[in-house]
Amino acid sequence: MKSENKTASSKEEKRKDAHIEIALHEEIDLMKDPFPQTVLKFQTFPEIDFKDIDTKCRLFKHDFHLPLMILGMTGGVDRGYDINTRLAQVATQFNIPMGLGSLKLLIKERHNPSSHAKKSFDMKKSFPSLYLVGNIGLASFNEGIHLDDIKWLIDTLELNAFCFHINAMQECIQPEGQKNFKGLIKSLEKACHEIKIPLILKEVGFGIDPDSFKLIKNIGLSAIDLASKGGTNWSLIEGMRGSLRLGTIFKDWGNSLEESLNNCQSDSSLSLIASGGIRNGLHCAQALSLGATAVGIGLPLMKAAVQDIENQTQTLEQEILFFEESLKISLFCTGSDSLKAFKAKHGK
Ligand SMILES: Cc1cc2nc3c(=O)[nH]c(=O)nc-3n(C[C@H](O)[C@H](O)[C@H](O)COP(=O)(O)O)c2cc1C
Repeated sequence: MKSENKTASSKEEKRKDAHIEIALHEEIDLMKDPFPQTVLKFQTFPEIDFKDIDTKCRLFKHDFHLPLMILGMTGGVDRGYDINTRLAQVATQFNIPMGLGSLKLLIKERHNPSSHAKKSFDMKKSFPSLYLVGNIGLASFNEGIHLDDIKWLIDTLELNAFCFHINAMQECIQPEGQKNFKGLIKSLEKACHEIKIPLILKEVGFGIDPDSFKLIKNIGLSAIDLASKGGTNWSLIEGMRGSLRLGTIFKDWGNSLEESLNNCQSDSSLSLIASGGIRNGLHCAQALSLGATAVGIGLPLMKAAVQDIENQTQTLEQEILFFEESLKISLFCTGSDSLKAFKAKHGK
């Protein structure tokens, strides 16, 4: 490997590690109520037995135990292996999908077989039944990354689905941001034609507007992760690495989750994953009532995983059980014994 590549990789590693450090220790979760306008109708006589409630969810033509995805966050850095391993353990235990953080670093380390980057992403080795979702910035296609690299990632890590993130605001605030976003819809279309596993497009905290949705709704994606404003805020995180003055200006901009869900209604088979500030099962039920198939949670699950690693606790498991319990209560008190029954009564 050329030495300039090594330097580029270690800079990228430092950036990824700074994201974790800031996310864990600074106030970058906006903690907004994602659904201020969405009130579910409470039912006095549910006429069901709580223990019969079925939370099974079909997503990516696959059955999961809960309508919940652990969103892509990390890998490629020193502590990435421990965090991803803990997330993968619990995702396997509960049969829910798990995302990896950006794999750009691994492509850069492609010709270095002993790289620790690979180990931190290679979760299928220890958890063969895990539903694992890869991740890379869509704008990487304008930085010399090719579809063959994505196919290599899919084969190497045995990925079940792949997610491209689009992050205009993050790249603008990020000191070393890549701001050439020309031609990315064409690149995404090409990926949809050539890649055979489910593909997801995802924002990173600013949501999806109606015009952008029109451009991508029929190109062959399996799902859109709405990643709206209200939770982890990337204008602030990158601002804390560069210009906080700049990051603060934009922290409240973007589409809220309610707006994104309303912006992305369609009759197609495209699934919507609602994320950005989802913190419990009631939020999940509210998202499902607005047309989502499932929800995603990021930062609180990373915090729980880190707590487990540092203190030998079971916090992550408890977080998922809390989500499950609060989802079941939401279903019970709306008179629904399954997600299907809930959507039939309360969904769009
Ligand atoms: C430390 C950290 C690293 C992240 N890295 C990525 C990434 O590499 N790719 C990506 O698409 N999203 C990344 N995200 C964003 C999350 O996937 C998610 O969209 C965001 O955290 C919003 O969800 P939340 O409010 O539940 O945290 C990252 C989030 C955190 C907290």
